[in-house]
Amino acid sequence: MADAAVVGAGMTEFGVHDTTLQELFGEAAFTALNDAGVETGALDALYFGNAMGGQTENETHLGPRVASHIGAAGLPVQRFEDACATSANAFKNAVQAVEAGVHDIALVGGVERCTPVTGKETPEMTRIFASASHRQYEQPTGLTFPGVFALLTKRHMHEHGTTEEQLAEVAVKNHAHGTHNPRAHFGKETTVEEVLEGPVVADPFRLMDCCPFSDGASAVVVISGDLADSFDAPVDVGGVGHATDVVPLGDKADLTATQAARDAASAAYEEAGITADDADFAEVHDCFTGAEVLASEAIGFAPDGEGGTYAAEGRTSLSGDRPINPSGGLKAKGHPIGATGTAQIVELTEQIRGTVGERQVADADVGVAHNLGGDAATTVVSVLEAHS
Ligand code: COA
Repeated sequence: MADAAVVGAGMTEFGVHDTTLQELFGEAAFTALNDAGVETGALDALYFGNAMGGQTENETHLGPRVASHIGAAGLPVQRFEDACATSANAFKNAVQAVEAGVHDIALVGGVERCTPVTGKETPEMTRIFASASHRQYEQPTGLTFPGVFALLTKRHMHEHGTTEEQLAEVAVKNHAHGTHNPRAHFGKETTVEEVLEGPVVADPFRLMDCCPFSDGASAVVVISGDLADSFDAPVDVGGVGHATDVVPLGDKADLTATQAARDAASAAYEEAGITADDADFAEVHDCFTGAEVLASEAIGFAPDGEGGTYAAEGRTSLSGDRPINPSGGLKAKGHPIGATGTAQIVELTEQIRGTVGERQVADADVGVAHNLGGDAATTVVSVLEAHS
């Protein structure tokens, strides 16, 4: 018996939402609660993620605000901020709390508005996102996140011969997967030619190599494992690993290793008692196509140096032997920062339940979520498994 399980999952469509942060979160939260068959009054705690609200919404004390919006005023609420790994960290803490017997039932989720509904266009949002990089060594140089991941990817190309065509294949795959996801920001296919002809954002990335700015929310209900059999469709939490790395790119021991991801993955696999080969699919943090290549190697879905080859050969597509990002990933599904981590848990839960329709991975019993924050400086890796 697992010590914790996910029994409810919900998310909004990712895209542009001209609505408030609380309303967005409420939609995801009530979808998850209804899915679990749990009343708000039965919750013991709320673990809540929002990364940039202080800068985008001019609002920082969001925990009690969203709790009271869903009728849960009075509950203990913890708010998490870990750049793009925000709600995966909330998930880890909720899992550990139910495993420790602190709570029986917790709601975990995240929300972010990143599109111009906040009044901030691409240059301002790019500046705000860059506040997750190193204040002294990186921000003064003008480095922003497309540049951070472009540098990591350029190094991978230099060391391993990864090509722009292989990167484009990642975008083609994730857009194709996204066409089967009604909650994806982009529901249209693309081609290698279209990706390679797009405007350069940060060499080697062109427009279609990048995830978009998105609004959205996601939530899951986490319960103590001994209660799982009283719910309709529990999915077991096998393990959660969380690791960090130095922030400045110039201080990293190996630019392409994304060491925090490797450490988080081995901790999650060890807790779950599995190896990467036992996993049937993964949702990884493909904020840029090159980030998916690095992630696929760090979690053991492709040998080092071969992440690009695996994508180009179709091995990471839905019909491949190592499916990655069946949801469409951040590239096509979208990336409302604080909502991304628990949205990956939503996808894992629904894939393992076998309820996602055309984007269903065959025999999806074990799924891995890889959620990365900042200059690959925080990573949370979670393993979910079919209930036993
Ligand atoms: N992928 C595919 N299409 C995209 C896109 C993306 N990432 N971003 C925008 N588009 C489309 C828009 O839908 C729009 O299409 P339309 O003309 O048919 O309506 C068109 O491209 C222009 O959109 P716009 O919003 O004006 O683009 P932009 O130039 O302001 O921003 C990027 C494009 C790629 C620079 C921006 O999305 C970006 O910076 N993304 C990365 C975000 C990021 O760094 N996240 C953190 C990761 S760690």
